Amino acid sequence: KKVVLAYSGGLDTSAIVPWLKENYDCEVVAFVADVGQGEAELEGVEAKAIASGASSCHIVDLKERFAKEVIYPTLKTGAIYEGQYLLGTALARPLIAEAQVEVAKKVGADALAHGCTGKGNDQVRFESAFAALAPELTVIAPWREWSMRSRPELLAYLTERNIPCSASITKIYSRDANLWHISTEGGELEDPWNPPSAQVWTWTTDPEQAPDQAQNLMLSFANGELTAIDGTPYAPVAAIEHLNHVAGAHGVGRLDMVENRLVGMKSRGCYETPAGAVLMAALQGLESLVLDRSVLDYRIRLGHEFAQLMYDGRWFTPLRHAMLAAAESIAEPLTGDVVVKLYKGTVTVTQKRSPNSLYSSAFATFDEDEVYNQQHAEGFIRLYSLASRIRALHQQAGEQS
Ligand code: ARG
Ligand code: SIN
Repeated sequence: KKVVLAYSGGLDTSAIVPWLKENYDCEVVAFVADVGQGEAELEGVEAKAIASGASSCHIVDLKERFAKEVIYPTLKTGAIYEGQYLLGTALARPLIAEAQVEVAKKVGADALAHGCTGKGNDQVRFESAFAALAPELTVIAPWREWSMRSRPELLAYLTERNIPCSASITKIYSRDANLWHISTEGGELEDPWNPPSAQVWTWTTDPEQAPDQAQNLMLSFANGELTAIDGTPYAPVAAIEHLNHVAGAHGVGRLDMVENRLVGMKSRGCYETPAGAVLMAALQGLESLVLDRSVLDYRIRLGHEFAQLMYDGRWFTPLRHAMLAAAESIAEPLTGDVVVKLYKGTVTVTQKRSPNSLYSSAFATFDEDEVYNQQHAEGFIRLYSLASRIRALHQQAGEQS
């Protein structure tokens, strides 16, 4: 029997390799997705997998697909979970699961395994993707089966088997990093009354330590997609990396929130999404210029619903295609330039222009205008408020009789 494991090189998945071999009497193939988690995590990952007992290790670079096929389309929907979270972990899971299934099919595996706990969202995201793409494959979730519960137990398990593991017993947080964000959970964060300690934040400068000098960036968009930064063309991956770096240095993109997990419990997480914060603000700036009232209102509701869909692991569904088609259509006129100002943890849109702008100073001006007849407003308001008038007249008549 053969199992393909979504392997990260961390403590959990390092223990899962020997555990699978012992408990399922199988060959374990390690699968590593490069979603932009960074050199530090990827370095020597293949050697680690083999040292843990994997028969082979397949590393698949998904960065470009992640940016082009997931991040940019999701940005056009304006998805923000519970009004705050830019969904960094949730966005990457479907692609990782899909690439894992491809490896499983290539090597003729019977089963898929992952290192998610039985308490979180990620198990649902992985397994919903598996169900949609390879319903014939068995799914193994060791965290839901084994009796080990803590990092020291996992380390002892590896030590007994002479498997080297660089992860230290003192590592406090559970982190998940990719091109779009890094999330930090656990440790002192489990008490919402504890403020995050300085070690929580790894991508962003403390806003209080950030430069006193603000920095402006001009972002150019075509049909809702970023094309250039300060006039230099940028492909999606490079753009996101660049913005993470520049905005992170100004402390932009931090979030500390308690969220509702799909499985029912609340959890507290700290997120760093510098590029995401900048791109979301810039696109909203452009939307305000270009989208009419009804379309913008629809876009806001779409963003809410798409955030839910992504958070809940429903990428491989017809609804995702329907929503992304709507977002694509809404984003069509989003062409133009936006200047954002980065300053001590904030990103502010200060300038915007678009050939599709519906903003008309001729109409909006407080000065004298030639295009708008203020007397027209009177009739509008009379009809607009007609129901109120009738209700009030009815009420007054009742009071008199
Ligand atoms: N709470 C976030 C989410 O559900 C982040 C999860 C982080 N996952 C992890 N395996 N550390 O999207
Ligand atoms: C996990 O429980 O595996 C990570 C957190 C989550 O999935 O929500």
